[in-house]
Amino acid sequence: MSAQPGSELISLKQVGAESLWKGMWRLLEGRRLAYVGSMLGLGIAALGRSSVYLLLGFFIDDVLSSPDFAAQVPLVALGFIGLAVVQGFFTYLSGTLAGRTGEVVAERLRNYLYDHIQRLSFNFHDRTKTGELIQKVTSDVDAVRRFIAQEATQFGRIVTLFLANFAALFLLDGELAWLSVICVPITILMSIWFFKRISDAYEDFQNQDGVLSAVLQENLSGVRVVKAFARQEYEQNKFEKENYEKYERGRKLLIWHSTFWPLSDIITGAQMLFGYYIGAQMTISGQLSTGDYLSYITLLVWLIWPIRNLGRVIVEMSRGLVSFERVSRIIREEREPLEDGQASLPERLKGELVFENVSFEYEPNMPVLKDISFHVQPGQTVALLGSTGSGKTSLVSLLPRFYDYTSGRILLDGVELKDYPRRYLREQIGIVLQEPFLFSRTIRENLRYSVGREVDNADIEAAAADAAVHDVVLGFPKGYETIVGEKGVTLSGGQKQRITLARTLLKKPSLLILDDSTSAVDTETEASIRAALKRQLGGRTTFIIAHRIQSVMSADLILVFDKGRLVQQGTHAQLLEQDGIYREVFNIQTMIEHEVEREVASANQGQ
Ligand code: CTP
Ligand code: MG
Repeated sequence: MSAQPGSELISLKQVGAESLWKGMWRLLEGRRLAYVGSMLGLGIAALGRSSVYLLLGFFIDDVLSSPDFAAQVPLVALGFIGLAVVQGFFTYLSGTLAGRTGEVVAERLRNYLYDHIQRLSFNFHDRTKTGELIQKVTSDVDAVRRFIAQEATQFGRIVTLFLANFAALFLLDGELAWLSVICVPITILMSIWFFKRISDAYEDFQNQDGVLSAVLQENLSGVRVVKAFARQEYEQNKFEKENYEKYERGRKLLIWHSTFWPLSDIITGAQMLFGYYIGAQMTISGQLSTGDYLSYITLLVWLIWPIRNLGRVIVEMSRGLVSFERVSRIIREEREPLEDGQASLPERLKGELVFENVSFEYEPNMPVLKDISFHVQPGQTVALLGSTGSGKTSLVSLLPRFYDYTSGRILLDGVELKDYPRRYLREQIGIVLQEPFLFSRTIRENLRYSVGREVDNADIEAAAADAAVHDVVLGFPKGYETIVGEKGVTLSGGQKQRITLARTLLKKPSLLILDDSTSAVDTETEASIRAALKRQLGGRTTFIIAHRIQSVMSADLILVFDKGRLVQQGTHAQLLEQDGIYREVFNIQTMIEHEVEREVASANQGQ
């Protein structure tokens, strides 16, 4: 049976909010009967095993000395075979049931985590390392699987084996039975003491494992930077340092384990010797028959075995529980609600935007936008200009509610932004992010991604043409079916930017945001994109972030930012008249352009 994601996702919602055991129980939904069945199966197998020893005692004491010995032997033999079959069958059955339950739970948990993680806020992703998330979805989920498939059932098996053997022993001789389990409380107390230590050591180890996978993930993603700066050695040292730390923590974990094992072996070994001795004494004094003594010593072995393993399993279960807690911590993170807000939603936004004293901070008391006010009429083009880190990206991120502003008001078509559901805003607003990202799929699929359904080829090509990338794509041997990335063509920075632009244009958003989206495109191509946008946009409010004055000077409103403050606003002509950053930047850029022109001219003359 394979898990069916949709229905199961809902039932897992509260896994993280409840106690550890309740969460585990919830995870087993739909598999509980099979799981309990697997434990019962182990119990029956354990009973079968204990019965073998009782039968052995009966055979020696009663059958061997009986007059119709020959007639009884086949029956006893049949009994032995029957018990062996019962044991084998039920061990197999419970093994498969538990193993499958473990797989189902792991699949379910991975699906849920994947779905959950992509619904968490931008804030969560800002502060979480990708590598650590990957490690939790893989390694921790696997530890939970092992817990369910092996350790928890082992625990059940051990308890039933212990009880069955103890009962068998008790039938044999009550006093002897009690004398044979003196070590149980000591072993349990010791396991609990070690459980705590090993849990802590394992958590340390898993945390470091997460750090290591984050380092690995980052180094691999940034491998070109590493090579470009010839920093392989530095990165190697960084990796070795973290890897050594993981080794150290793994060693500590192992030390705890390896202290525990011999200690528990000594205790159970002493118990065994004590049992042999007492049993022998009782047999010598005639309290116990020889057959019973033989049954006793074999039963004792199978009574000590679960006691010895109980400790191990308790200690090993700590891993599954720690991993489950680590996973639950992600599950407990609040999702970003997509459907909140109560505004009545028009088909399309008009695009009138009012910022009233808006401030925003990512971290408390570290404002990145301070007291911003401006007014955009529907259909206007707004340009944002400012040095790096001045808050331009942060400002436009507020519009699709990637983040919510801290104070002030933003009104979109007269309604406060926080009253719009996030999903609606993200459908209406098209944003071309500053860092272009494409999936390793075909160009067509990448473009279509923004609309999420089949679209006419003509529309795709028109959007690509507006972003001045249609001809580029046709230049690839497979055209729009070319796969982007590792298995296909590697796109240049400018090509990537233009494809991400086309992706957003295809969506025909009612409000468009271009965050430095043509920075890697040459001036000529940029001009043609601008012309196409102007043609196509016709009356759609557009935000453009750019560093080149040329890209912003035709805007209806230019906003100039400096260190999170809006320092100037107006049209190109108005801003040129003011003494301020805009004129400075304009002068510098035109001066540079003139210099370049002069140099080109003199180089041409010299030829
Ligand atoms: N910042 C932050 N957390 C983020 C993003 C940004 O604390 N998740 C901070 C940055 O460190 C910076 C400030 O917010 O100090 C403004 O960043 P941003 O809006 O990205 O600046 P831009 O004006 O867009 O800079 P650039 O031109 O380089 O894109
Ligand atoms: Mg930016």
